[in-house]
Amino acid sequence: MPSFRLRHKNRVPRHPGFAGAQRRVTASPMSLAAFPAARLRRTRASGWSRALVAETLLTPADLIWPLFIADGEGVEEPIPSLPGVSRWSVDRLCERAREARDLGIPCIALFPNTPRELRTEDAAEALNPDNLICRAVRAVKAAAPELGVLTDVALDPYTAHGHDGIVDDRGYVLNDVTSALLVEQALVQAEAGADIVAPSDMMDGRVGAIRQALERRGHHNVQIMAYAAKYASAFYGPFRDAVGSRGLLKGDKKSYQMDYANAEEALREVAMDLAEGADTVMVKPGLPYLDIVRRVKERFEVPVFAYQVSGEYAMIEAAAAAGAGDRDALVLETLTAFKRAGCSGVLTYHAPLAARMLTGR
Ligand code: PBG
Repeated sequence: MPSFRLRHKNRVPRHPGFAGAQRRVTASPMSLAAFPAARLRRTRASGWSRALVAETLLTPADLIWPLFIADGEGVEEPIPSLPGVSRWSVDRLCERAREARDLGIPCIALFPNTPRELRTEDAAEALNPDNLICRAVRAVKAAAPELGVLTDVALDPYTAHGHDGIVDDRGYVLNDVTSALLVEQALVQAEAGADIVAPSDMMDGRVGAIRQALERRGHHNVQIMAYAAKYASAFYGPFRDAVGSRGLLKGDKKSYQMDYANAEEALREVAMDLAEGADTVMVKPGLPYLDIVRRVKERFEVPVFAYQVSGEYAMIEAAAAAGAGDRDALVLETLTAFKRAGCSGVLTYHAPLAARMLTGR
């Protein structure tokens, strides 16, 4: 099997629907022959054959590696709810960036853990051109210029209450006020050298506003990856630990993130973001939402990404730690499933592990 690692795929077989091995069935429109002329197990019988007929190919080029940034120097801070994931100070982050590049991972996504004293009601630190994420972007672009850098546009790492936007006195996140700040935040990140700005806040109209501002300021090639269909999810817990917003968050995010009962609404979200100028769209979380990925891909025929979020990572790690599953196999199977569903790529904390498996390094 190791020799076929690079083409590790999973395939959902379509068979002509026979209930028992002895029963002869008529050919379905999907197959030219009936059993026993058709035996779908023939092409599955050996590794070389499975490799030849595999429909989906996972490579390191399909991966975006999310990384958390810590203040200071020479710092690695492990995140207990995300075993194996750490926050890195900017200097150590540059080592991770070079590691990503050397593994063939095309892009990293950056998330800052803003020092507590810089978190305020107005999230002013988000607009500081010398904030943690901007310093990180400049350093990474210098250390590994070939690597794509994606930055998150949302205010939650900067607000005193942990919400993605500015709240009124009832705690409601204000759309248009927040959107205007997100535009400034995206510009600050683009000016620092971000290649992709990714609004994850779910305010209405922010993609169009950000696109216009980027064009006006000459950032014609800075991409927007819209967190278009982002659901209010219980799978974000460890991420909030990582960016330090879990303890601060008041209430939930259901007045701006989507209800997980809805799929048509996701298509409207994607349609609006594309009409406003999103280059690529994202579905988030990942595995429980592969139906959304598939519908978006079929309807819009644009590059679709999925975020295999922190809680999904933690579930795989917990399963591996409990002996309930093999980590490597779970990682390759889930990541391949994203591609099979129609993803151009996946944001995953398992990116370096997957890339090492896929390249045999
Ligand atoms: C916040 C943001 C979140 C994630 C990415 N950006 C959490 C949230 O919406 O509360 C979650 C990613 C993960 O769980 O891995 N703008």
